[in-house]
Amino acid sequence: MKRVCIVGASGKLGQYMVQHALDRGYEVVGVCRQRSVGKLNRFRGRITVIAGTTNDRHVIGRAVSGCDAVFTVLVPMGVHQYASGTAQAVLDLAPRKARLIFSCGWHISMDGKDHYSRTFIAAVAVVGWLARLFRLFDISDQVEACRRIFASDTRWTVVRGSNLEEGESQGLPVWAPHIGDPILASNITRRTDFALFMVAAAENDSLVRQAPAIVGCQTPSAIRHGSFKRMRGQAS
Ligand SMILES: NC(=O)c1ccc[n+]([C@@H]2O[C@H](COP(=O)([O-])OP(=O)(O)OC[C@H]3O[C@@H](n4cnc5c(N)ncnc54)[C@H](OP(=O)(O)O)[C@@H]3O)[C@@H](O)[C@H]2O)c1
Repeated sequence: MKRVCIVGASGKLGQYMVQHALDRGYEVVGVCRQRSVGKLNRFRGRITVIAGTTNDRHVIGRAVSGCDAVFTVLVPMGVHQYASGTAQAVLDLAPRKARLIFSCGWHISMDGKDHYSRTFIAAVAVVGWLARLFRLFDISDQVEACRRIFASDTRWTVVRGSNLEEGESQGLPVWAPHIGDPILASNITRRTDFALFMVAAAENDSLVRQAPAIVGCQTPSAIRHGSFKRMRGQAS
């Protein structure tokens, strides 16, 4: 892995990914909206920033050129197919051999085999309805983005994040292929560790075309259900 692109670099998850990628010695290209370029000032001189909307195919085409991996923060912001447009541009324009890592939440299901609690289903429904009502974001667009990714023959991984919190890294999260696995019960991950998992996934071919659901490795459920699945290629 030499050159990587981070799409959505100025957000909280994106900035953590930039730092983890630099820590690994990668050359980093970051894409963010023009108005957010200043959020990347602390990386000035160490990364290349391309300003533009992430669903702009011209912007993405320039940014992903020559990259070995592309990390994309999939956000359903607005109501104009922002997430699906972003995902489609990355799928279409990244080099064929590149590892493509996308972020989303537990509400995305790849194969319908996830088991959600009633509380979780109700929360997603209420948040989605309110967000659409106020035209803030459209969860169904993130679902559509992931549908396109799952149908793609590229070398993708969709990392499904639990609830997030700030704080020092606790180490690489553990994961399970399906929601409902008891190891995920604590439903909390440090945001920096979500980013760590995303960046590490690019070097882990056993995660190609998988949608791991993650949880912090120091959480009670991860400790209780012991056998840490620390990206050694195990699926449960
Ligand atoms: N938040 C959670 O609890 C949670 C839980 C599970 C999974 N996730 C997943 O984690 C990822 C990151 O989420 P996050 O909540 O932590 O947020 P984040 O990292 O701060 O990222 C938010 C992103 O959305 C962009 N954005 C904000 N408003 C926008 C707008 N109006 N139009 C276009 N782009 C806009 C931001 O760009 P600017 O920097 O330009 O504003 C930034 O790139 C997402 O894939 C999310 O599905 C989040």
